[in-house]
Amino acid sequence: MSTPIPRPPGVPLLGNIRDIDPSNTWWSLKGLAEKYGEIFQIKVLGKTIVFVASAALAEEICDEKRFRKYVGGPIEEIRYTVHDSLFTAYEREAESWGVAHRIIAPRLSPQATASHFDQVRDCTAELIEKWARLGANNAIAPLDDLNRLNLEVTTLTLFGKKLNCIAAPRHPMLAAMEDSTSEAMKRPTRPKLLNWLLYDGKLKSATKTMREFAAEIVKHRKENPTDRDDLLAALMTAKDPETGKSLTESQVIDEIITMPIGSSTAPCAITAMIHFLLQNPEVVVKARAELDGVIGDGPFKHEHLSQLHYIAGIARETLRLSFAAPGFNIEPIPRNNGGVADKSPVLLAGGKYQIAHDQAMIIVLAGVNRDPAVFEEPLAFRPERMMGESFEKLPSGVKKWFGNGKRECIGKHWAWDFLNVAAAMLIHGVDFEAVDKGYVMKQDGWFNVRPVGFRLKVKPRSA
Ligand code: HEM
Repeated sequence: MSTPIPRPPGVPLLGNIRDIDPSNTWWSLKGLAEKYGEIFQIKVLGKTIVFVASAALAEEICDEKRFRKYVGGPIEEIRYTVHDSLFTAYEREAESWGVAHRIIAPRLSPQATASHFDQVRDCTAELIEKWARLGANNAIAPLDDLNRLNLEVTTLTLFGKKLNCIAAPRHPMLAAMEDSTSEAMKRPTRPKLLNWLLYDGKLKSATKTMREFAAEIVKHRKENPTDRDDLLAALMTAKDPETGKSLTESQVIDEIITMPIGSSTAPCAITAMIHFLLQNPEVVVKARAELDGVIGDGPFKHEHLSQLHYIAGIARETLRLSFAAPGFNIEPIPRNNGGVADKSPVLLAGGKYQIAHDQAMIIVLAGVNRDPAVFEEPLAFRPERMMGESFEKLPSGVKKWFGNGKRECIGKHWAWDFLNVAAAMLIHGVDFEAVDKGYVMKQDGWFNVRPVGFRLKVKPRSA
């Protein structure tokens, strides 16, 4: 006998519509994970979705022999903007996904991202200089500035174009990313007619801005030929080593847009990291001791990164507790018996739970990453548990902040270096103070989640 998967009571006809705030879906899911534990389900507009919120179940449904990425809901909606890009490709588009993956992956490898180090460092220094110019009596919204930094670094390292947007008014691409992803999240919760009547305009206008941004990057490269062997060069000219195919002009635009959307998760994580550091001043003391020992007053170089073990612990503990990419979608791989579709239920946890053969599931990392079955005091920020052997020993289910398997984040090495560089430079060079001393972190967001209403005073490090 299997155990029924818990479901909040809901209301007749509308189901669990009131259990999810469409303006802050992930915060609602975090609350439901805290209430119901390892697994729960909701029904909205006649559709059932199962949510997995424990490390053990996450590990089980990350088994690529039984499960795969589910492309539905918001991911399907953002296809309006980026079609069959890496992030949005259906399983049935595995062939075109494979071509793009093999062209892009080498340009985001650890070796490729190591070659970006100086640019990442220098752009981060630009932000720190901008803050130093503010004078003593300042109050900043860190996410706004870190979003600018992220767009600057992504565009420079991957596409070779300096936007100069760190100290400039908010770049239109940032508003367009916000509008397109918020719309993609909200559309599945509204009737189609309402989307068409009232909201198509917002999505279309954001898409136009983003595609023009990408087209401008391509035009700039055509007008300024270079021997830079970067991601843009690969997108525009490389051939897939397996099929000999290259990307169409439209696919190049799709993939260019996908990169800043993907990388925009990093500033959300860095903002949360600053909050965790303010809550844990002893971590800053230890981190500064490491940084002073390894970098000292000299220039920060790429070879320092592999010596910054405590900073790496901070970056991982931030990924765990910020769940900046808050989850990802999974579905069972269709099964068949002697050529006949097998529609029998799929068993989870050795038969404890049963789900339909084609049930869409969402891994809620707010639950998985803070699973009390794995972590002692799961809410405490402890970089030590994310270092060395302690980290190695953790089950794979709690290390899924970059997703899973073949659809794992292709930008994970880039993101890892950026998180570590930013953490090192901000801790080494800046004193942060919360404007509101009693600030309690609440997050909102769309494809990623970030602290709401978090404001800081910033000044160059004094001691
Ligand atoms: C802290 C930073 C980041 C986090 C936590 C993160 C997390 C994730 C996760 C969880 C997925 C899987 C999504 C799914 O299964 O639907 C993913 C996929 C992806 N990410 Fe990231 N990401 C980060 C940074 C980046 C960066 C820097 C880039 C690009 C430079 C990027 C580009 C992508 C792309 C293109 C995919 C789709 C890959 C595919 O399906 O083939 N991400 N990311």
